[in-house]
Amino acid sequence: MGTIPRVLLLALLSLIGAFLSPADASLADCRLIETFVTGARGTVPWTSGTECCGFVQGKRNVTCDATGRVISLSWGPTAAEAASGTNALSAAGTSLSTLAGLTELRVLSLVNNTLTGTAPSWITSLSKLSQLYLTNNQLTGMPDLSPLASTLTILDIGSNSFSGNLFSWVTGMTALQELWVGRNAFSGPLPTSLANLRGLRFLVLQYNQFTGSTSFISGFTNLQALVVRDNKFTGTFPDTSNMPYLTALQADNNGFTGPVPASLAKNTYLIQLSLAGNGFSGDVPNLSGLANLRYINLASNPSISGTLDNLLPAALTTCYLSGTGACATALSAVPVQCRIAQAGVSTCSGAGSSTGGTGSPSSGPASAPPPSSSGKPGAAGRRRAEMSTVAGKVVAAGVVGAWILAVI
Ligand SMILES: *[C@@H]1O[C@H](CO)[C@@H](O)[C@H](O)[C@H]1NC(C)=O
Ligand SMILES: *[C@@H]1O[C@H](CO)[C@@H](O)[C@H](O)[C@H]1NC(C)=O
Ligand SMILES: *[C@@H]1O[C@H](CO)[C@@H](O)[C@H](O)[C@H]1NC(C)=O
Repeated sequence: MGTIPRVLLLALLSLIGAFLSPADASLADCRLIETFVTGARGTVPWTSGTECCGFVQGKRNVTCDATGRVISLSWGPTAAEAASGTNALSAAGTSLSTLAGLTELRVLSLVNNTLTGTAPSWITSLSKLSQLYLTNNQLTGMPDLSPLASTLTILDIGSNSFSGNLFSWVTGMTALQELWVGRNAFSGPLPTSLANLRGLRFLVLQYNQFTGSTSFISGFTNLQALVVRDNKFTGTFPDTSNMPYLTALQADNNGFTGPVPASLAKNTYLIQLSLAGNGFSGDVPNLSGLANLRYINLASNPSISGTLDNLLPAALTTCYLSGTGACATALSAVPVQCRIAQAGVSTCSGAGSSTGGTGSPSSGPASAPPPSSSGKPGAAGRRRAEMSTVAGKVVAAGVVGAWILAVI
């Protein structure tokens, strides 16, 4: 009669073992994701009850660590949902909060869903979170992410419905390397304590209503991409001499005044320089040493003056200079791509008599600014078209530049 207790004991031991094994911990994380998916009226895309680690399907994927805990989760609409404009995740409601149990998460991407309201506060309890992508939702609020200040390196909340001042807690997120807040309705000046974020590589703020000075940006020595276009910034442009890695600079359609910074001549990785639609004035600095520069747009800065002779690098593939007061004494003095009609370079009036001098500014551009580069706010559609053209052109020029241009 000793056999029955022994069977019970073995059963009990295997139950305990089942609870403790790493494989089961992984299944626990996968079960949380299943609860979330079914709560969002979706269909679990793996055999329910099995491992989800390594799952990849379109924009959805799950990655686990060696013990089977989920460390990365990306969940966007399926291709069919994206095509039909329906989106299961928008119906997730409270089931979204089951993801709070994924306490080993490093990467969370809920891009392209139709999340509304304030982003869930449980995100702040994911104490190892390093990358958070909430791009292209309809969010109007964010929880204070300060609890993640030492871990969060990438915050992408672009293309949402945020308004008002930039969240003050952002200035304390000192591990940040990438801050993407473009295409929202943020307004007001940036807090100067944003200068605390010394490790920033990407600062991407385009299409908001930010005002005031950007001078503190000159301290971001790791910056690769500075995208402040289509805001209401004013004042002189920050010095870029201490940004050796700067690759893309887009500052179009703001209220910048003063000189085009001569420090740009030192940014030898620069691929794209776009300053159109501002109030820059004075001579164009000598950028001829920028061997990687492919795209330059200085259009619609009527107070830029002087000659352009031998100031621009030969390898340019796109050049817009219309609507400036700068001119060339002869077309041969500017790169080939600046000579075509759309580039809008004018020949200095009295050319030939002012040999090699600073030249007198022409009364206006030789041709109308191309639609894609005329820099007045309010034509977002046209500028989008411009960006995709740029992306196409710069793809060949450099990986970082191509990537940033492609995603903006
Ligand atoms: C997971 O999905 C995200 C978002 O679509 C994507 O950026 C990432 O490269 C994907 N990862 C894998 C391993 O497929
Ligand atoms: C989000 O949507 C855009 C536009 O439809 C698409 O290009 C992009 O690949 C999507 N990204 C993800 C992660 O779903
Ligand atoms: C610009 O600098 C280059 C050297 O990088 C020089 O050859 C060229 O003459 C300069 N152009 C002008 C107009 O000073």
